[in-house]
Amino acid sequence: MANDMLSRLRPELTKLQTYAVPDATGLVKLDAMENPFTWPVAMRTKWLDRISHAQINRYPEPNPEHLKQKLKDQFGPRDSCDMLLGNGSDELIQLLVLAIAKPGACILTVSPSFSMYQMIAEMIGVECHVVALDENYQLDATAMLAAINKYDPALIFLAYPNNPTGNLWDRGDIQTILDSSQGMVVIDEAYGPFAADSFTDDLAKNNNMLLLRTASKLGLAAIRFGWLAGDAALISELNKIRLPYNINQLTQLTMEFALDNYAMFAEQADTIRSLRGSLFGQLSAIEGIKPFASEANFILIKVLTHDASIVFDHLLKQKVLIKNVSKQTGLAQCLRITVGSKEENKIFCDALINALSS
Ligand SMILES: Cc1ncc(COP(=O)(O)O)c(C=O)c1O
Repeated sequence: MANDMLSRLRPELTKLQTYAVPDATGLVKLDAMENPFTWPVAMRTKWLDRISHAQINRYPEPNPEHLKQKLKDQFGPRDSCDMLLGNGSDELIQLLVLAIAKPGACILTVSPSFSMYQMIAEMIGVECHVVALDENYQLDATAMLAAINKYDPALIFLAYPNNPTGNLWDRGDIQTILDSSQGMVVIDEAYGPFAADSFTDDLAKNNNMLLLRTASKLGLAAIRFGWLAGDAALISELNKIRLPYNINQLTQLTMEFALDNYAMFAEQADTIRSLRGSLFGQLSAIEGIKPFASEANFILIKVLTHDASIVFDHLLKQKVLIKNVSKQTGLAQCLRITVGSKEENKIFCDALINALSS
């Protein structure tokens, strides 16, 4: 019977894997680029008061204009742009791929980069072409242009800064991609709060550009909220496939509250940037690894003297959870560490030294 039901599913599903999330109970959690800081008690009390007024018996606002306006006031961009709100930016990536999923359409991204672009394309059944980054994890502009000419992708995903390498790419290369593409180019600024550069001001001059952002890395991963900004006419079409009420009422109220109290988040992002600098310094002094400079809230390291997976396991035994990316294409021997609090970073560095000396 079960097999009969399974035979009704799309056969591609058997090739897919569930997105794996390790259990972090009791561990120093440095695997998912979360903000390590909580809120002062007074802020929590104000927040609880705000959400206590939620009309839980009613459907949430379907397309909350006031929240979009607050986002625009805080992050831009220009007035002729509109925004689409998502249950996390993952949902918006899925919506974009669904929107272009007609026979023969494809998407393009780079490798190594955020794995969900490819995973979502696979789950929807859209072909995803991937161009390798160069040896410095920079865009290979020539190869990108060749792929754009050859495949005419309906959608290109570029994470800026890139995950998991943490770097920004050459602006000129990105502009060339925007100029050469007949399809949409999504600049995914999930790590924007920690980066020295943004493409927000470039939306005005690039009609085919969409800017993707998330609240997750700012310190609001639990509420699942992301937004996509772009040309109003394009956003209006994309909005047709957004499920009604995709942003629940508690998320809407919490995001509004966060924007009303944005100074605290900006300060936390500043602290994280400064902790990133200290962590990078500490990692640079450890023999047997090479850290890569980062514009995000994580640092990629390459393990030079040991097997990276063994180092990862050793850290886990010491109750430190990071992300083992060493099996991904282009990331041999690499591990990714989220920037934690000062104490967490010290625990991690001590555990790493321990692992490398065994
Ligand atoms: C580049 C990039 N984009 C998007 C996301 C998804 O973020 P969320 O769905 O939490 O908004 C992530 C998560 O790690 C990411 O690294």
